[in-house]
Amino acid sequence: MSPVIPLQFVNAEDLKQQPDTVRLWASTAGFKADPGSHCLVPDSQGAIATVLVGTPAVLDTWTLGKLAQSLPPNRYTLSVDLDGETATKLCLGWQLGQYRFTKYKNGSSALPELVFPAGVDDAYVQASVTATTLVRDLINTPVNDMGPDQLEAAAQTLAQQYQAAIQVTVDEALLAQNYPMIHAVGRANDQPPRLIDLLWGDPNHPKVTLVGKGVCFDTGGLNIKNSSGMKLMKKDMGGAAQVLGLASLIMQMQLPVQLRVLIPAVENSITNNAIRPSDILPSRKGVTIEIGNTDAEGRLVLADALWEAVSDPPDLLIDCATLTGAARVALGAELPAFFCNHGPTAEALKAVGEACDDPLWQLPLHAPYREMLSSKIADLNNISNTSYGGSITAALFLQEFVKPDVPWIHIDFMAWNLRALPGRPEGGDAMGMRALFALIRDQVVG
Ligand code: BES
Ligand code: ZN
Ligand code: ZN
Repeated sequence: MSPVIPLQFVNAEDLKQQPDTVRLWASTAGFKADPGSHCLVPDSQGAIATVLVGTPAVLDTWTLGKLAQSLPPNRYTLSVDLDGETATKLCLGWQLGQYRFTKYKNGSSALPELVFPAGVDDAYVQASVTATTLVRDLINTPVNDMGPDQLEAAAQTLAQQYQAAIQVTVDEALLAQNYPMIHAVGRANDQPPRLIDLLWGDPNHPKVTLVGKGVCFDTGGLNIKNSSGMKLMKKDMGGAAQVLGLASLIMQMQLPVQLRVLIPAVENSITNNAIRPSDILPSRKGVTIEIGNTDAEGRLVLADALWEAVSDPPDLLIDCATLTGAARVALGAELPAFFCNHGPTAEALKAVGEACDDPLWQLPLHAPYREMLSSKIADLNNISNTSYGGSITAALFLQEFVKPDVPWIHIDFMAWNLRALPGRPEGGDAMGMRALFALIRDQVVG
């Protein structure tokens, strides 16, 4: 077994206290103990004796995320006493930083290994890494290998792994079972639309229902997107990926909840039978919807899934969706927006998000904007009559399909890292998943 190399946090003061040879070497290497920097210190044989790591302002989940990728492939340990919670965060960030998407191109270079210190919640780290890897792999896989068929297969695999029940309503059966919106949005595609319905846990436990937007590719439909708008649209099933990841986390950790996961899985494609702007369609709830824009397809499929979700009212209802570009204009790509019809739940989500380095930002369900979704000839239009506040009007559209007495969180997120950050490689990613897990663990169960 190769020796275990200590990772040593140092600030400028600590550096001065180091033995002369170490101080000199650090100075030769230009290391000043700045946060985020590190310095390999050799022994007299030229092997790595220790790694000096600039102490960051706070020790959080992302502290070791970059080192996990950049250190030579040896075994390392933390030579500092940490409380269990901090140690768990650091180890999680290390593991998350080692993710690589190797399905189509092998990144075969060896990675460094961290020997976890005592006090780390191993089960939580492993479960979070497994869940996040699932989310990332699902999103990163292009639609030619991740259409509605394969998204369903992923849900089937997960159900099998944890002995969950699963039921899938496909194609014409969607019409027979009254899911007209899911059928309409997905019908213009070879892989037919479907609703995935997964059930797990003890019916005596509090009920949590997760709904995820599963648009495997969003061309925009007949209101076709331009090249740059379409480029990343394999990620438009990011909501589905995130709720599958969250389900995996809940099931791995065996939270005492009764879990239901609903995923409308479709591709927003273009053929002669695609929905058209100005079409008026029925919805599961019975309200009629005028299609103002075929590119606002996510809210249509979610409407039917949400109305089904509240038919068996859960103690907490959560939907995740890459719903609007407007949410990204408001908050950027890295900070998910959330909307919530229940004050205490919203406050709790903010707090756990901060606590687990997985922040979300609340936007308002501003009721006066509801009338912007009115249609002259149908009950509702799927787009607002102004371009302002687009993530709010989208959330208000969804709210029409949620009963007011069901505590509901709607997450509008990017599901994609445009830039690599420590612990978060460029590409598909969960955002808010660990916060939602903590909320369910602490508020619904706790
Ligand atoms: N999937 C997109 C939203 C999206 C775009 C999320 C870019 C993240 C990044 C969604 O289906 C969509 O196209 N929404 C339209 C709505 C509009 C037509 C009212 C949008 O945001 O432009
Ligand atoms: Zn769209
Ligand atoms: Zn979309």
